[in-house]
Amino acid sequence: MGCSDSDYAYLRQLVLTESANLIDPSRNALFETRLTPIARMAGASSLEDFVTLLRVERTPQLQRAVAEAMTINETSFFRDGSPFDALRDTILPRLVERNAAQRRLRIWSAASSTGQEAYSVAMLIRENFPELAAWDVKIVGTDISRQVVAYAQRGRYRRMEVNRGLPARMLIKYLVRDGDEWEVVPELRALCSFQYANLCAPLPRLPIFDLVLLRNVLLYFPQQDRGCVFSDVYRQMVSEGYLMLGTAEQAEDSTNLFQAEFVRNCYFYRPTPTS
Ligand SMILES: C[S@@+](CC[C@H](N)C(=O)[O-])C[C@H]1O[C@@H](n2cnc3c(N)ncnc32)[C@H](O)[C@@H]1O
Repeated sequence: MGCSDSDYAYLRQLVLTESANLIDPSRNALFETRLTPIARMAGASSLEDFVTLLRVERTPQLQRAVAEAMTINETSFFRDGSPFDALRDTILPRLVERNAAQRRLRIWSAASSTGQEAYSVAMLIRENFPELAAWDVKIVGTDISRQVVAYAQRGRYRRMEVNRGLPARMLIKYLVRDGDEWEVVPELRALCSFQYANLCAPLPRLPIFDLVLLRNVLLYFPQQDRGCVFSDVYRQMVSEGYLMLGTAEQAEDSTNLFQAEFVRNCYFYRPTPTS
């Protein structure tokens, strides 16, 4: 016997509470695929038994593991292309000019998944802004899934991953082949760090950022949770900073916090100055 509708509804609600991710009922089969290994580790013989265990014991660790296992971690190097052109040609030059006196730059890849976004920004910086080699530059990647955080920290990618979005010239320059994998060079790894952070819970201690990439995560959140995330991100940014969302996302719920600016076919969002 499989899970009942009420079991699936329980799992959907649990994921929503823990991570703000909405899972459509049409994707119920995903629970089976993603949660079976966790169910086994927890000693349950089926997903149905696992749901009973979750309902009875309410162990926070298991609840978190369920939410993390249900995340969609789709990403790639230089995803969507043009936002990185806008960063290279307009946004980063402006930030470099603005921060020239302090020679410091802080960039946040919020919802960094397996790290390709953060490493893409690091490559962009090394490739186009040689003067920043003498600056204090940090790119911080955060994600709710500890598994993808560990993957990003490892900085090793399979052929299929390096074949997506990474120009051959950059691959050869910034990753080193080791058997079936490619490892990001130490120079880039030194710029990037990765850590756990849940965007719908109080954030850990993080720097105040000049640039925030919050891409392809809010589309999984219900509207009310998006508003809270925008408020937290706003507090985490310098007043002249830039926020970049995914190409299918807008800061429509937070017009009071951010003002849109169209740069090279992309929308960037700037914190509204406090009066
Ligand atoms: C589709 S990936 C996007 C990765 C990257 N930003 C990009 O655009 O390619 C979404 C990521 O958001 C993370 N995520 C989902 N809910 C989250 C939450 N509540 N807090 C932090 N990260 C979350 C997932 O684990 C996943 O790695």
